[in-house]
Amino acid sequence: MQLEKFTAQEIAQLEKSAHERIITHWASNDDLAKEAKIFIGGEGCYLYDIKGRKFLDTFSSLITTAVGHGRPEIKDAIVRQLEALEFFPNYHDGFTVPQIRLADKMAEIAPGDLEVCFYLSSGSEANETALRLARQHHWMHGKAHKYKVIARRGSYHGTTLGTASYTGFTSLRECFEPLLPGALFAPQVKCHDCELGCKPETCGLRCLKAVEDLIKWENSDTISAMIMDPLPGSNSGYPPPPPGYLQGIRELCSKNDIFLIFDEVQTGFGKTGKWFACENWGVTPDMMSVSKAITSGYLPLAIMLTSKKIASAFQNTPGVEFRSGSTFGGHALSCAAALANIAIMEKENLVARAAEIGKYLDRKFAQLKTRQRLVGEVHGMGTLWAIELTADQATNLKLSVDAGTFIRDWCWQQGMILRNNGNILVIAPALIISNDELDTVVALLEQALAAASKHFGLTQ
Ligand SMILES: Cc1ncc(COP(=O)(O)O)c(C=O)c1O
Repeated sequence: MQLEKFTAQEIAQLEKSAHERIITHWASNDDLAKEAKIFIGGEGCYLYDIKGRKFLDTFSSLITTAVGHGRPEIKDAIVRQLEALEFFPNYHDGFTVPQIRLADKMAEIAPGDLEVCFYLSSGSEANETALRLARQHHWMHGKAHKYKVIARRGSYHGTTLGTASYTGFTSLRECFEPLLPGALFAPQVKCHDCELGCKPETCGLRCLKAVEDLIKWENSDTISAMIMDPLPGSNSGYPPPPPGYLQGIRELCSKNDIFLIFDEVQTGFGKTGKWFACENWGVTPDMMSVSKAITSGYLPLAIMLTSKKIASAFQNTPGVEFRSGSTFGGHALSCAAALANIAIMEKENLVARAAEIGKYLDRKFAQLKTRQRLVGEVHGMGTLWAIELTADQATNLKLSVDAGTFIRDWCWQQGMILRNNGNILVIAPALIISNDELDTVVALLEQALAAASKHFGLTQ
């Protein structure tokens, strides 16, 4: 890889324009004030910035990278498609060959009976589309009154006004309200910090009962769908669902004619040690949204998957078609990239490798917890991990200082990209990360934790 060289003057000009001319996504003005981070190269788990510094990326470019940066197989697949036909929309009766081949591949790797694709470009659109499909399906069956949607507090489903309506974070909703009517929120399922005040040993799945009560109270005849992430994302610290919860949700939805939508935008494509997170619990939804790692981030792509049975309501007979679409959904180059990405994952057994990484990190983090008192609850599976910092390991007391940001900035100075959501540290590397690199991650993290303890005067 040849990295372009920039003069100090060029860097200063680029930084100035970046600050003045771009509103970044989910911008943090505090962070922007410290430094605009401009990247110019990538290889494997590493990124290079404009100042020539090398960084080990533990957040896999916003959890997109599965197979690492700079893979020639993906580049070649994109170029081959580019030379043949760069784009034709998946519109009316039009297809490109990569779209069809990818749909076949998805039918092979997706769980249960999910084997029909609707193509999009982003995770938000995929979730939005699943919600639209649910609504139109009910409407076509004379049930337009089924319009409400159950979501969960603490889950993120996207940035459109539709998906924001069902996103369970007040700060991401409040300035856009009023949002879509009929959003019903069920409790977040976080056993170590249960919002219902229960203890896992004795709770009898109160969180599931809360969903059942909500359905009864609201009347199932008014509810279209339930959208949830089977393993809640980095914002929530990847708390695993308790045994029986997802199965219970599946049963409730089936019994009440409510479509179950799994948002696997973050967890799909091997990240949890299975192709899709829901396979860890043997539960298949009616619709599933995937994006991010589908192309390892080489190009934007998302898919809303559903079963043949559900899709058939919209197929074959003129007049019943699904009324939804986007110009670039299923872009030929993106589908070619996805096929090459999945081929690498299969050839290199990366899904099984992710499961191994999960076991390795589980051990390493358990050891780290015995040495660093700031380490509180640790949750994760495969390559998706979160460490909650605590003021007291015994009582799980929340920290009153922002040690997470200190640790993230410390790691950046040492050449490691780490994501923090306040005092939740997220470690979510690419699936190709080696054990040596994982050891480096844990060693740097340990030094950062020690530095934070010292900085904030917290006892070691
Ligand atoms: C669980 C989940 N759902 C949906 C989205 C939205 O995807 P996108 O940003 O591609 O629209 C994200 C993005 O981070 C996500 O993590």
